[in-house]
Amino acid sequence: MDDVEVHPWSEGDLGLLRRANTPELMDWVGGVETDEQVVSRHARYLALARDGTGQQFRITIPGHPEGVGMVGYWQHEWHGEPALESGWSVEARYRGRGIAPAAVIAMLEFARAAGETLPVHAYPSVDNPASNAVCRKAGFTLLGEADFETGGGVLRTNDWVATLVPPGAA
Ligand SMILES: CC(C)(COP(=O)(O)OP(=O)(O)OC[C@H]1O[C@@H](n2cnc3c(N)ncnc32)[C@H](O)[C@@H]1OP(=O)(O)O)[C@@H](O)C(=O)NCCC(=O)NCCS
Repeated sequence: MDDVEVHPWSEGDLGLLRRANTPELMDWVGGVETDEQVVSRHARYLALARDGTGQQFRITIPGHPEGVGMVGYWQHEWHGEPALESGWSVEARYRGRGIAPAAVIAMLEFARAAGETLPVHAYPSVDNPASNAVCRKAGFTLLGEADFETGGGVLRTNDWVATLVPPGAA
């Protein structure tokens, strides 16, 4: 989709995070949070850029500067190696228009321009076709499955990766 923009997370984006705190959205990422947890998530998102450990973004489309979703990346360790992990969500009423793939592509461009070179992984649940479709449409490569221990058991995910550095340029 054209005209999708990503904007680095700012103080004013707490409302976007509160709107996203619904079961149909948060159940994919650990469940609905208390307002205290949402406020501390907001602080963590602000700290990513301040500490140089990642970047969260508000996604906008024309007419909706308040944001229709969010996308971001942060450092993590994968099989003992430093890597980036990414995640995203779009408010229910704006889904199915290609907003998330466009925002993910814009996020990867931002990361590249910021000098990031680590591989960017995403781990959507194998039961989350919409998010797996986002990975495919944003140009990620499927590496295989990956299981994560959660409080409630094992989460079976797909391990997708996008490269920020052209082959041979590393
Ligand atoms: C995953 C998500 C960000 C996709 O955002 P989006 O902007 O709707 O992305 P797209 O428009 O490219 O649609 C992706 C897929 O969603 C499905 N979809 C299509 N229309 C839809 C609609 N109206 N409502 C819900 N899903 C729809 C389709 O499978 C589509 O894939 P396709 O184009 O190959 O058919 C969004 O569904 C979401 O926020 N889900 C809940 C949070 C979540 O799962 N986050 C990822 C955690 S890993």
